[in-house]
Amino acid sequence: MINIKERYKLLKRYVVYRFRAKMRGGHGIHSPFLFQYYNSVLYGKVKCSYSESPKLLFKLLQQDTTEFEPTSFGAKTTATAPLQVRHFAASSAISKADGKLLFRIAKDLKPKTVVELGTGAGVGTAYLASAYGDAKVYTVEANPQLVSKAKVNLATIGLTNVECIEGQFSAVLPMLLERIDRVDMAFIDGDHTYDATLANVDCILRKAHSNTVIVVHDIHWSEQMERAWEALKLDSRISIAVDLFSLGILFLREGTAKHSIVLRY
Ligand SMILES: C[S@@+](CC[C@H](N)C(=O)[O-])C[C@H]1O[C@@H](n2cnc3c(N)ncnc32)[C@H](O)[C@@H]1O
Repeated sequence: MINIKERYKLLKRYVVYRFRAKMRGGHGIHSPFLFQYYNSVLYGKVKCSYSESPKLLFKLLQQDTTEFEPTSFGAKTTATAPLQVRHFAASSAISKADGKLLFRIAKDLKPKTVVELGTGAGVGTAYLASAYGDAKVYTVEANPQLVSKAKVNLATIGLTNVECIEGQFSAVLPMLLERIDRVDMAFIDGDHTYDATLANVDCILRKAHSNTVIVVHDIHWSEQMERAWEALKLDSRISIAVDLFSLGILFLREGTAKHSIVLRY
């Protein structure tokens, strides 16, 4: 939840984004890889049959009046009183448009290993896990009540390729990365601070490879996130950084000339 002043700043950042963004259709994209990717995956011109799993999860969440104690992990969590799961999901889960985009990215990439930081209500997890059945999705969340909820909900809707891990990213992520060979895709939607965002991406990059795709949510949500995105764009390990406003996509692609671009989708 953000206050009016922050909302106004966000609106201003959105206006700047719209001025800078290349038009729909991929005009102005010079990289052949990105042009093709934009039209087939990001803009989703290729017909994509979405899974029913996220819809089922939305239904479960909308009816869930269970109260839980929100904890102050990361810059986004400001509530202090007990919160109903349905209200938490409505305010913190990724949008349907972003969820569908995650789904298309994972469907195209066919990742064996996906790491998600910030399970929350499990909405992003449902999109990721339902996109490619052979993927194993590791999702990390510090709030124990949300972890229990996500475990039950994801199992109820039939997503068995998910491992929910409870703990702080700084403690759990290094341990997780020790036991997996590589990260093919990562979705970062947890601690929205400058330091944590850079630290989390840095950790993931140690197990990444040329085809790894890293999606960072809320890159314009705050000044800290904007600074983090600027720093990520400059990271020498990243070749292409795509700004879609609500999220940013980082490609490693060895041998590709380094560039960043702002796109509408
Ligand atoms: C915006 S919500 C995630 C929403 C989720 N992606 C979805 O679509 O439903 C962010 C979550 O990250 C968790 N979080 C924030 N900072 C964290 C940290 N340092 N370690 C572990 N979890 C954290 C919060 O508890 C919160 O549930």
